[in-house]
Amino acid sequence: MINDRLPKFWYGGDYNPEQWDEDIWNEDIRMFKLAGIDVATLNVFAWALNQPNEDTYNFKELDATIDRLYANGIYTCLGTSTAVHPAWMAKKYPDVLRVDFQGRKRKFGGRHNSCPNSPTYRTYAQRMADKLAERYKDHPAVLVWHVFNEYGGYCYCDQCATAFRRWLKERYETIEAVNHAWNTSFWGHTFYEWDEIVPPNILSEEWEGNRTNFQGISLDYRRFQSNSLLECFKLERDAIRKHTPHIPITNNLMGLYPELDYFKWGKEMDIVSWDNYPSIDTPISMTAMTHDLMRGLKGGQPFMLMEQTPSQQNWQAYNSLKRPGVMRLWSYQAVSRGADTVLFFQLRRSAGATEKYHGAVIEHAGHENTRVFREVAELGKELGKLSDQLIDARIEAKVAIVFDWENRWAIELSSGPSIALDYVKEVHKYYDAFYQHNIQVDMIGVEEDLSKYDIVIAPVLYMVKEGYANKLEAFVKGGGTFLTTFFSGIVNDNDLVTIGGYPGELRNMLGIWAEEIDALHPDNKNRIVMKDKVGYLEGEYECNLLFDLIHSEGAEVLAVYGDDFYEGMPVVTKNKFGEGNAWYIASSPDQDFLQGLVANLCEEKGIKSLLNSNKGIEVSERVKNNKSYLFVMNHNDETSQFELGTDKKIDLLTRKTLTGTISLEARGVMILASDMLGDL
Ligand code: GLA
Ligand code: ZN
Repeated sequence: MINDRLPKFWYGGDYNPEQWDEDIWNEDIRMFKLAGIDVATLNVFAWALNQPNEDTYNFKELDATIDRLYANGIYTCLGTSTAVHPAWMAKKYPDVLRVDFQGRKRKFGGRHNSCPNSPTYRTYAQRMADKLAERYKDHPAVLVWHVFNEYGGYCYCDQCATAFRRWLKERYETIEAVNHAWNTSFWGHTFYEWDEIVPPNILSEEWEGNRTNFQGISLDYRRFQSNSLLECFKLERDAIRKHTPHIPITNNLMGLYPELDYFKWGKEMDIVSWDNYPSIDTPISMTAMTHDLMRGLKGGQPFMLMEQTPSQQNWQAYNSLKRPGVMRLWSYQAVSRGADTVLFFQLRRSAGATEKYHGAVIEHAGHENTRVFREVAELGKELGKLSDQLIDARIEAKVAIVFDWENRWAIELSSGPSIALDYVKEVHKYYDAFYQHNIQVDMIGVEEDLSKYDIVIAPVLYMVKEGYANKLEAFVKGGGTFLTTFFSGIVNDNDLVTIGGYPGELRNMLGIWAEEIDALHPDNKNRIVMKDKVGYLEGEYECNLLFDLIHSEGAEVLAVYGDDFYEGMPVVTKNKFGEGNAWYIASSPDQDFLQGLVANLCEEKGIKSLLNSNKGIEVSERVKNNKSYLFVMNHNDETSQFELGTDKKIDLLTRKTLTGTISLEARGVMILASDMLGDL
């Protein structure tokens, strides 16, 4: 459990007193108390302060800050400060500097700019973590370790090249196996010596926008860089663990960030935490999906919302303010999907440099009489009142959607069939259909056990990893409903096509084969024509993007294409396989179709919607000790309704008893529990 030492929703965020003079510090504390803030994330970017030169470590400021806050009831989420190497280090040991995608050696500057395979970086980062953990191991203020900050970015330097070759040797053992995996007899790329292999960047195989001549090497380089950064995390983690095995260790992830395989990261972290920065027009269900994905990284354990802005970002093109009520609404959205903390970036807005126009709890005005501060303080009070009854509550889903970063890389790197194919968008289309029905979904990786689910959806499962087809077959044979889409079952782990007809290893279970794949401009639609009415589906729907030309090999054909030379060929099929069913959707359907489809699948499995509500009302349920807590959130700009019927519920936020048709004000939130107050 995240919050056992402070059993409430932690409230606070990144705090950088090193940017301020002493007279501000006491004022900060006064205002933190006003806002109900009890956790500050410290020391995230303070390496240069902590280590002014190679031989000197100085933690006096940090000691004082931790003590001062703790004396005032504020705990610490302790950063390891290794996200920006000090300038002296870059000058003295240039091996810490990255080489970028264009092949340019970086100079000191920016952040997150250290080569993950630099011996200097690794040594000093690990040493810093070790020293911090030793120093603060018994400090009662330290609740959690925050290693680095938002790992990301790739390096293409010579030491990464050497490490890449080492990584390849471990993975493939022989150069012949590499040649085979990358299909290097294409364009005469055969390698004879390991050191002929160079990192794939703009100087070699790749060009801007994830384009590559050789998917094999590009895919492996992504795996390797993700792993290199993960190794850096593990070095710090292990150094810390020696001293404080009882304090959980995290690193703040970035949701759908493309470059790291977060399922591998989740396994290594004690707690998942992440930074949520939607823009004003991000679909609400995309944010919901991302929360669910972050929860999925550790098999459904609650996570920390490590950062969100109380008001606006600075790095978007148009940095819109969160409208009144939205910060609270989105905070509850995170909590409703598994967050046990609500933390901000940051507590006081910087006076200089690039983030001075980034929102903060304390704005440049410097006092509490601001809209943002008032909203933060109100939420702090409200979360404080919720005490611990919801902490560590779980989400129970019968539906899982598979998400896989390596599959995503392979799709993005693919040359053809369509530049418009966007894995995340396709996954989100399916997620959104469940979301609109108020049906809870787990976002899972390919290693997750499937037996606890009734329905598993794997949109665009282009890469079928070793053993995965068998796992899916066992799931369906046992009675599960599985659904996949066009452009699935095409390649193995190395992006080598499974010869013998698509969808390769999934063909038997799906009872179809795909002969060709058509790609049209997304504006060019085809039609999904239902043969008969099937539950909520009847008549016609639109589809676009990719069109698999499939033949049934036993699957029931429920709908056919309405146009083009493949008019009349199957587009929606369902195959009885063992006790279960395997569905294939051969194109990218419109939302009406997907909502009907999802309603059918759920009805077949007896999965009910959490609540009947108007559009724009989001519902999510957390469960603890067999008690259900329904979060109902109105994302509309006006009052909207949902239906309780004869159920009686208590809103934990107002303590009002509710039944029948309920009106929820614009941006309002309710947390509904059973009506027995004694139980609460
Ligand atoms: C990230 C970082 C923070 C800060 C914010 C600004 O999430 O972790 O340090 O830069 O972005 O949005
Ligand atoms: Zn490097």
